[in-house]
Amino acid sequence: MDKNKTIKILLIEDEEFDVRRVENTIAPFKQRIKISEVVSDGKSAIELLEKKRNEFDIIIMDYQIAGGIRGEYLIKKIKDIDLSLQIIVITKMTINLTDYEFAQSLITAGAFWYCTKYPVDIEEYIYQPTDFVLSIFNAYEKKELIKERINSKAKIKRNVEGILTSKQIIGISDQIVKLREQIKKIAESNAPVLITGESGTGKELVAYNIHYNSHRKYENFVPINCGGIPEQLIESELFGYEKGAFTGADKAKPGLFEIGDKGTIFLDEIPELPLTSQVKLLRVLQDGEVEKLGRLDKIKVDVRILSATNKNLDEEVKAGRFREDLFYRLNVLPIFIPPLRERKEDIIFLTDYFLNHYALDIGKPVPTLTEEAMSMLVDYDWPGNVRELKNLVQRLLFYGENVITPDQIANAIGKSTSSGISKNDGLSFKTENGFLTLKEMEKQLRLKYFQYIRSKTNSDAEAAKILGLAPPNYYRMCKELGLK
Ligand SMILES: Nc1ncnc2c1ncn2[C@@H]1O[C@H](COP(=O)(O)OP(=O)(O)OP(=O)(O)O)[C@@H](O)[C@H]1O
Ligand SMILES: [Mg+2]
Repeated sequence: MDKNKTIKILLIEDEEFDVRRVENTIAPFKQRIKISEVVSDGKSAIELLEKKRNEFDIIIMDYQIAGGIRGEYLIKKIKDIDLSLQIIVITKMTINLTDYEFAQSLITAGAFWYCTKYPVDIEEYIYQPTDFVLSIFNAYEKKELIKERINSKAKIKRNVEGILTSKQIIGISDQIVKLREQIKKIAESNAPVLITGESGTGKELVAYNIHYNSHRKYENFVPINCGGIPEQLIESELFGYEKGAFTGADKAKPGLFEIGDKGTIFLDEIPELPLTSQVKLLRVLQDGEVEKLGRLDKIKVDVRILSATNKNLDEEVKAGRFREDLFYRLNVLPIFIPPLRERKEDIIFLTDYFLNHYALDIGKPVPTLTEEAMSMLVDYDWPGNVRELKNLVQRLLFYGENVITPDQIANAIGKSTSSGISKNDGLSFKTENGFLTLKEMEKQLRLKYFQYIRSKTNSDAEAAKILGLAPPNYYRMCKELGLK
């Protein structure tokens, strides 16, 4: 708050005598408080506020003013015009109600404070000057705070709507319809959520949707890639440190948990978290407090925890790589996203959505797919799930054909994944700009033959034998081809 700014007042008062009393009361503070305008009835007050809503900070109004508008009604009208305006009501008497009830009805209507006039025979001041002036200063402070909050929320609010539109979960399958309903419900709670599903099924997307549908949506969403932070830095990243906590800590660093306070923390690839950090995380979840390096007292944080993995966390627990107690803490509300191949009706829908979306983005006409091309997409297994489909559509658009044929799909799939193989089309190596080099063709041929042999055999040893390769060579070549 700007301590030197003049507080501008609109006074709604119909009696000359009372106007002077207000002026007298605040006269000693005329450096800070100024009566900008005086009007004598509610109607002119509203008209004035509608025209010059930023001209005033505080409204001081008589409860019984000419024009007969009830005080509470006028208060509501003023609040409708600008929620941040603060209203102080002055009144001579307490109209058939107890003081308490009267105050209650004014405050409920939205008034900041009310003052009773002193008996009329006290000429000079009608109000207890300290109370009256103090309430003006307090009201001003509140007004500034609300203004700030409205401004920052308005900014973020637009963002939230934008984010929710860009992060829509597309699909028409029963599973996705249920998933969207589940997210709406889960968003209302504060309990930890564990999101599982294969790579590219939309785990991060679901996390976004939980956060931006919850009451925490105006606060931070902090994604943390547990596999992406070097082990020795994890704790300082998560919990932060104070200046001087260790040599080299020349500035304090807030941890991600502090940044996410009141918001949502998304722990992605949670099994990658080293066991030592798992202990610390567990403690934070239990106590709701973080221990910051170089600080004696703990810091309270209020965060919602979402976590995700494409591994089977149960197995990680059994193998001793993940703490069981932490697993139960995180897995309060489980969400599983089924792979794309188990909800085939989404394939056509998503393809159509992505085609339209990206065609619009790059300003190209939306191509059509032949029926064979479409059924090829539906038949395909999509090991990379929605991410793979999204990439494929972008690639198809890049080719710029008006009609998309199975050939082009086969080609695009071949590039989107090392295991990509077209079922209908054995040797379609043609590319958008001519033909493959001999080396590339050999690689693809080798890949397809490797996949074929592996699908017909029960073990790597058997496959290597059929291919006539020594096991080390067989494994090396598998690796080169991107096969496990
Ligand atoms: N149902 C869907 N509707 C629209 N877009 C989707 C959908 N599912 C996934 N996507 C998109 O696919 C891509 C992959 O999704 P996301 O990153 O959420 O997957 P993930 O499960 O976190 O994958 P990984 O395990 O590899 O991290 C993103 O671009 C995402 O927007
Ligand atoms: Mg992810």
